[in-house]
Amino acid sequence: MPHNNGKSRTRRSWAEPYKIKMVEPIKMTTREHREQAIAEAGFNTFLLRSDDVYIDLLTDSGTNAMSDNQWAGMLLGDEAYAGSRNFDHLQDTITKYYGYQHTIPTHQGRGAEHILSMLTIRDGDSIPGNMYFTTTRMHQELAGGQFVDVIIDEAHDPTSQHPFKGNIDLDKLQSVIDEVGVVHIPYLCMHATVNMAGGQPISMANIRAASKMCHDQNIPVFLDATRAVENAYFIKTREDGFENTSVADILKEICSHTDGCTMSGKKDCLVNIGGFLALNDAELADRARNECVIYEGLHTYGGMAGRDMEAMARGIEESVSFDHQHARIGQVIYLGERLLEAGVPIVEPIGGHGIFLDARRFLPHLAQELLPAQALAAALYVDSGVRGMERGVVSAGRDPETGENRESRLELVRLTLPRRVYTQAHMDVTAESVIDLYEKRNHIRGLAFSYEPDHLRFFRARFTPIGGKQILDDALYSSLPDAVSDTANA
Ligand code: F0G
Repeated sequence: MPHNNGKSRTRRSWAEPYKIKMVEPIKMTTREHREQAIAEAGFNTFLLRSDDVYIDLLTDSGTNAMSDNQWAGMLLGDEAYAGSRNFDHLQDTITKYYGYQHTIPTHQGRGAEHILSMLTIRDGDSIPGNMYFTTTRMHQELAGGQFVDVIIDEAHDPTSQHPFKGNIDLDKLQSVIDEVGVVHIPYLCMHATVNMAGGQPISMANIRAASKMCHDQNIPVFLDATRAVENAYFIKTREDGFENTSVADILKEICSHTDGCTMSGKKDCLVNIGGFLALNDAELADRARNECVIYEGLHTYGGMAGRDMEAMARGIEESVSFDHQHARIGQVIYLGERLLEAGVPIVEPIGGHGIFLDARRFLPHLAQELLPAQALAAALYVDSGVRGMERGVVSAGRDPETGENRESRLELVRLTLPRRVYTQAHMDVTAESVIDLYEKRNHIRGLAFSYEPDHLRFFRARFTPIGGKQILDDALYSSLPDAVSDTANA
């Protein structure tokens, strides 16, 4: 892959540290087909059928390609109801790489968030964190708490070049503590990397300082470790003093500053399903096991099959390899640099798990009430069959107290890269479609809600375009050649 940051004069490409031994055909569709499909999906890319999608960049969650070694492990699944040997392997692997003593397996990340929230949050508590994540905040609120954003201001500015936009603003953190009092803060919720800010990392210096600040005041720190290995890669490549430390050692140090983590294994751990809550406190872990048996499954499987736990243990081992992370994040950088060269507004610096199109600057003719990011995601799908996801005012949802839309300074479309799934040619097709669309951006219509669910509305909401039936102004579009499609199925 020709990505060298422009640093060396002789261009030396690098390539993925694997080769492909099995393929899954994908369907190519016509623009007409896609127009109908997105209309049937209420202009929400979550409601499209996967069969109607050409390049699926909806999420990097559970969409990873497993290695031959992981698939081999699947055949060694010990499907005993209790005490599966794969659980022991998983727990030992978590202790080895993440350092935590106790593992409570869950069906996925939000299962772990549910258990942690129920055990630690009381009515009226405040939970400071470096930007919200949708399911994490939902569980905090359902447990009676309130999330308070203490991320640095730069995180809310897509143009800021700060290398660690996931950092916690220590003054904001101390102000929250002073304002509500230590007893009303069950823990600091620390994300590594910050998904909603654009996959932006937190620095080791900041992790050390924020954790110390909390621990000095007897406030526990829980990590959302969903993409912590990617964060470790950024620390190695961006933070002074870590050039010669391995990704694995950096990961271990990140975790050592925290009291436990919630984990969606569907990302860094290179599997399709699963998660865990990992803790150091034996008593809290015991209470978590009691919740696990109610909501997830016995405490030695927590909603995962034995084979899933084996695949996850092997995936964790593979995930800490520098070459793996270099190729994974290198692919994201490749796509991002192609877009930047063409002047497309994206969140910078380029983050870990995807490219985030800045819909505010992409579609300046659409006010935020017209849901520009939702509209852009729908338009991109119509143009080329590439599926992205809205991460703006629709995802931010409504304030449960006031019922008003929450303010969202970021209005983004996320193009998320599954790990080890797509090739550089897929990135080229994606970049060309986005660039084409940028040139025709004035012809993208705004959207209005036609159905709005009460919780996590972005998943199942439906929309209608304003001023016409389709998201793209037909008159202009029908005169242009189709990006990818019309070749197959024609
Ligand atoms: N924390 C973070 C930072 C996440 O990105 C996710 C999921 C979760 C927790 C919840 O984990 O899905 O396994 O229950 N993110 C997915 C995404 C949905 O597309 O970003 P889960």
